[in-house]
Amino acid sequence: MSTATVLSWPFKKRYRKPENIQITPRRMDFPFANIERYWFGGDPVMTHFLNALSLTFPDGERFFVNSVRAFREHITDPKLQKEISGFIGQEAMHSLEHQSFNELLMQMGYEQEASSGIKFAKQMLARGQRLLSPKQQLAATAALEHITAILAHRLLSNPKWSQKMRPEVRVLWLWHAIEEIEHKAVAFDVFEQVSGDYKMRTRSLFYATIYLAAYTSRYTWAFLKKDKAYRRPIALTKGFWNLLGPRGFVTTSIPSYLSFYRPNFHPWQHDNSALIAAAKQELEQLSHE
Ligand SMILES: [Fe+2]
Ligand SMILES: [Fe+2]
Repeated sequence: MSTATVLSWPFKKRYRKPENIQITPRRMDFPFANIERYWFGGDPVMTHFLNALSLTFPDGERFFVNSVRAFREHITDPKLQKEISGFIGQEAMHSLEHQSFNELLMQMGYEQEASSGIKFAKQMLARGQRLLSPKQQLAATAALEHITAILAHRLLSNPKWSQKMRPEVRVLWLWHAIEEIEHKAVAFDVFEQVSGDYKMRTRSLFYATIYLAAYTSRYTWAFLKKDKAYRRPIALTKGFWNLLGPRGFVTTSIPSYLSFYRPNFHPWQHDNSALIAAAKQELEQLSHE
């Protein structure tokens, strides 16, 4: 039995965060300056895909925090209460650091694309808050946290991805990926305790995926268009191959993505806590360079 597993009556495995994982907010002050335009190994598509994702983070993370906080008083498990505190602290820091990163993108000449992406993300999230019930918002958070956790896993599990990033940017994404894995089950566990509605959970992932895919496509393309990347068809083809080809960044995450649709899914069924120690070590080295 894995360290992440305990048995609970009746006959159902209950998964928990492994004991060696602590959800601790770490303060990070990244000096973002003079980053290479195509900081992801010179690949414009991968760079702008991650830039587009970054635009969603400051407001997205605030949405996550609010949707979990709305149910905090219903949680009686002291362990989960502590995890919620860690989750809120970590997401608040992510918001701030990605805000700085997004400001840098604006200074790099993507003012219009970044402002428009941030505004659109804000509008989408405000619409979600207006139209969805608090439980649906929590389900959406659990679903989006699944997506961030599998992308974080993809980044940390194969050095082929993270090593391509320029060190000054790698530090941000490594730090974020570590914490996304650490707190990957918090929103899920809160949702399971206050609702556990399978249809609501899976429907939320389905719609969240459509919205996120449409959003990242739109803004990845906006950044590429600004660079007139259509004049570089070979670089574009290679980039889309890296992202969506058979061994691509997104494509190889599909099996983990689909696991969320299983009725007995839990984020810690996949115990990837070992990845964190190695990534922390790398982060430590990068922070002192
Ligand atoms: Fe985050
Ligand atoms: Fe998160």
